[in-house]
Amino acid sequence: MSVNKIIKRVTTSLIKEMKGRGEKISMLTAYDYSMARALDEAGIDIILVGDSAANVFAGYETTLPITLDHMIYHTASVVRGATRALVLADLPFGEYQGSVEKAYEAAVRMMKETGAHALKLEGGVEIIDNIKKIIHAGIPVCGHLGLTPQAINQFGNFGVRAKEEAEAEKLKSDALALQEAGCFAIVLEKIPAKLAEEVSKSLSIPTVGIGAGNGCDGQVLVVNDMLGMTKDFKPKFLRQYANLYEQITTAASQYIADVKSSEYPNENEQY
Ligand code: KIV
Repeated sequence: MSVNKIIKRVTTSLIKEMKGRGEKISMLTAYDYSMARALDEAGIDIILVGDSAANVFAGYETTLPITLDHMIYHTASVVRGATRALVLADLPFGEYQGSVEKAYEAAVRMMKETGAHALKLEGGVEIIDNIKKIIHAGIPVCGHLGLTPQAINQFGNFGVRAKEEAEAEKLKSDALALQEAGCFAIVLEKIPAKLAEEVSKSLSIPTVGIGAGNGCDGQVLVVNDMLGMTKDFKPKFLRQYANLYEQITTAASQYIADVKSSEYPNENEQY
């Protein structure tokens, strides 16, 4: 008799409940099947298929060049690797900031062609009608405020946002608007810890921070950064849990040496 292992999927309702019981939410990015499997087995709550794939996968300086087709490819790969985690996917730049119809169509394509469970959109009141349309279609949406990388050309740099009163006030009203629109969570990126804590306490939906301090309801990091795969990227907020860049170059150097010296493959490694 085979025993079917029943794995309960993390849902957006569960994510909201976690805030209620004070349980922190863990989120990491992934862009491919193998990484998704490993993170899922580790017990991550949310896998974010971030448009940071443009940076860490494709080597672009910003997230702007990644397309909807690229994001669909990455997201479908991650979905195939995740049996428990909620898979959250970024809608890429240019697909949702214009008309409500275009945003809706991009969102529907993402959901239909990938099997993702929810979508993340950057911005506040400016895109609130587009967010409402997507939510009304039955698609859970996570907001993203603070340093929203798709707006990097407006910001001019990747520094901390909302340090000044006016921007902090706008962020607070954007967060409330996203909650009222029906978002199930909000990512807060690179803002002062005090502001992130105040926003988190003012909302009934959870916040997930990156470079936003410990007062958020959860934390997210780009997986390549926390595994030490992105050489020379060490912002203050980043904790590196491994040094895979060094391990990969050491392993590859050893392999090269073994091939060159005919040490690989040996008798046990052939047919
Ligand atoms: O694209 C991404 O990886 C993100 C995280 C930085 C939150 O949006």
